[in-house]
Amino acid sequence: MKPFLSWAGNKYSVIGQISALMPKGERFIDVFCGSGAVFMNVKFDKYLVADMNEDLIFLFQEVKRNPVAFTSISRALFDNFKGQDGYHKVRKMFNQKDQSGITTIKAAQMLYLNKHCYNGLFRRNLKGLLNSPYGHREKVYFPEKEMMGFHTIAPLCEFYCWGYESTLAQAGMGDVVYCDPPYAKKPDAAMFTQYSGAAWGMTEQLKLLERCMQAHERGAKIVISNSDSEEIISLYRSAGFLIHMIPTRRKIAAASSSRAKVMDILAIKE
Ligand SMILES: C[S@@+](CC[C@H](N)C(=O)[O-])C[C@H]1O[C@@H](n2cnc3c(N)ncnc32)[C@H](O)[C@@H]1O
Repeated sequence: MKPFLSWAGNKYSVIGQISALMPKGERFIDVFCGSGAVFMNVKFDKYLVADMNEDLIFLFQEVKRNPVAFTSISRALFDNFKGQDGYHKVRKMFNQKDQSGITTIKAAQMLYLNKHCYNGLFRRNLKGLLNSPYGHREKVYFPEKEMMGFHTIAPLCEFYCWGYESTLAQAGMGDVVYCDPPYAKKPDAAMFTQYSGAAWGMTEQLKLLERCMQAHERGAKIVISNSDSEEIISLYRSAGFLIHMIPTRRKIAAASSSRAKVMDILAIKE
């Protein structure tokens, strides 16, 4: 199932490899869900889906709650607001403060902005206003088929705007926890991490691992994606994780359309 959102760092291109390695369990916990490419493509009885991006979680909740109104409003936006001018009009409406309460319209505006902005970068400035630039795509695809796919799994999902610590505190016996955090910065790859959001330093990576180990002690199985930096690999190995190499392609700079072959890792502790 293809996600209906465009999201920097999404795992859709390697989902076959990730889902083949995913351990079995009752509940899947997607701690850093982003586009949702991973939870939408693994089979569990139920799903706890979280991310600290408020806009993103609000959008998932609203698409789940109001599918028919959401689809018709967002289609009308795609049809009626074309080109750069149309994009700036919708962005201005989205950034107006007096919109609270009209949730379905706001969620539809977010889908429109996600699909029309530059590379799906959903970025707010310090004043809290969305300031992602226009994407200049020749054709913008309305992801109706992908949204219908999402509706088949949505009733099994609960969406939460939580930081990873709160989400991991929920995990225990019967759960499979998947973490796809901002990657550890590699000394030779400043551009990769810059492109896919703020890279995490070692302090944050260690804190995440510590919380994962606590969840594992409570009975959860843990799966973590990360870059193949030597430091990260030895950190996970020393904590008893099995390391799988996942060949992938990544944009090498924000301004570039070329993709370089790189390795990610999938670290698993059952
Ligand atoms: C690499 S992306 C995840 C991509 C996702 N697996 C997909 O396939 O689309 C990392 C996500 O982590 C989220 N994030 C960053 N810091 C976080 C934190 N402290 N707690 C929870 N989520 C966080 C970001 O909002 C972003 O959506």
